Amino acid sequence: MTLNNTTIFKQACLINGDWMTTSDRLDVTNPASNEVIATVPNIDGDTINKAVDAAEAAFKLWRKVPAPERGEIVRRWHDLIVAHTDVLAEIMCCEQGKPLSEAKGEIAYAASYVKWFAEEAMRINGEILPGAAAGTHIRVSREPVGVCAAITPWNFPAAMITRKVAPALAAGCAIIVKPASQTPLTALALGELGIRAGIPKGVLQVVTGKASVIGDALCKNTKVRKLSFTGSTEVGSHLMAQCSHDVKKLSLELGGNAPFIVFDDADIDRAVEGLLKAKFRNAGQTCISPNRVYVHNAVIETFQTKLVAKVNALKVGNGLDDGVDIGPLIDAPAVDKVIEHVENALRNGAKLLAGGQRLAFGSNWYAPTVLTDVSATAQCACEETFGPLVPIIPFASEEQVIGYANDTPFGLAAYFYTDNLHRAQRVVDEIESGMVGINTGVISAANAPFGGVKASGLGREGAHVGIEEYLEMKYQCYAMKNL
Ligand code: SIN
Repeated sequence: MTLNNTTIFKQACLINGDWMTTSDRLDVTNPASNEVIATVPNIDGDTINKAVDAAEAAFKLWRKVPAPERGEIVRRWHDLIVAHTDVLAEIMCCEQGKPLSEAKGEIAYAASYVKWFAEEAMRINGEILPGAAAGTHIRVSREPVGVCAAITPWNFPAAMITRKVAPALAAGCAIIVKPASQTPLTALALGELGIRAGIPKGVLQVVTGKASVIGDALCKNTKVRKLSFTGSTEVGSHLMAQCSHDVKKLSLELGGNAPFIVFDDADIDRAVEGLLKAKFRNAGQTCISPNRVYVHNAVIETFQTKLVAKVNALKVGNGLDDGVDIGPLIDAPAVDKVIEHVENALRNGAKLLAGGQRLAFGSNWYAPTVLTDVSATAQCACEETFGPLVPIIPFASEEQVIGYANDTPFGLAAYFYTDNLHRAQRVVDEIESGMVGINTGVISAANAPFGGVKASGLGREGAHVGIEEYLEMKYQCYAMKNL
């Protein structure tokens, strides 16, 4: 571990511009080795309330900073993130486990949101509308929501922060970030870079501690006007209930159960490549990861043969080592869940084509696995596995597979492969999902609206709509004299 040598490696909370520490600490471990690599403060609800007061004071000043100046500060944050790619990626790899190359990719992805929203600061426009009565006219302006809170997950320790914080800052809001307890170090490093970029004290704060304590304090505090959360549907709906008392504005990026459909007219090589990229990104610990793979009977043999050859060639190992494609899962319970899903599928008639076992590296490792003849009602087809499992389910017709795809409470991402344009349009129209990849497994981008329908969430992140989540409209009706 060389992390202590870098000045952005912080083991304290960023509160009102100062690095605050406590004697009560939480361990941060490397999932590759289970070794403790750092400790961070376990702060209490009173400290959160102080951070909210600081955010409120900072917000009053920040909202008045002219948009070009706010945008310029956010852009400087972007430049510093890019300049620190290597060290940020190393911190991320050590606390999260993903391969270094993937961690560098995530830093670039995280920075792309910061750049996007630095520019969007200049495009917070209003409207002038014809008045409803003689002599009146209507103006609609957009104002920052106020103090915001972001509760972020461990699977993307940088990108899930920047795509909440950057639009909040660009809109003129102050924001408190509570990163996942497993991955606070990337968040704290981003906070330090924020200070260096000139984000004023109190405008961006990063707090660490128990999710239940901090989440509770943020939700109870009526000065917090907006909560943005990425994580499970279960926790999201709990937070939604906790925010109901004062009707906070909410953005929720929740669980998925993405179908990946390969039709008989698909380019099979492209479908295999697309599935590998989408499924094994972050060892399958991605909300938009294909969770159920439906392959038409006519092409299933060819598809499976090509897929299994590629899956068997994936290199699993410590993310810091060269050439590694897949690292550990976040913890042992995550592996237990994959095992449960594999065993359930096998009991219900599935056949194992690749992988299928915990690896000898330690408790957090599982082999990339392919199952076929999985039942459409197997556990892995109904619940998010969040691990390196490809369950293949055969299908016979377009109608049947659309029925399978939509038979879920979730609707985050969906993917399908076909070379038939008419089919592509029909399937897009039928599929119940916030995002659809057609002949691609790579759909995430800062200029695209990320988000789901049904139990997968509320609101969108990224794109020009992403900043709207941090703005309120104000309608003004002007009645003119002497007209
Ligand atoms: C997620 O898993 O929620 C984020 C994935 C992405 O932004 O591509």
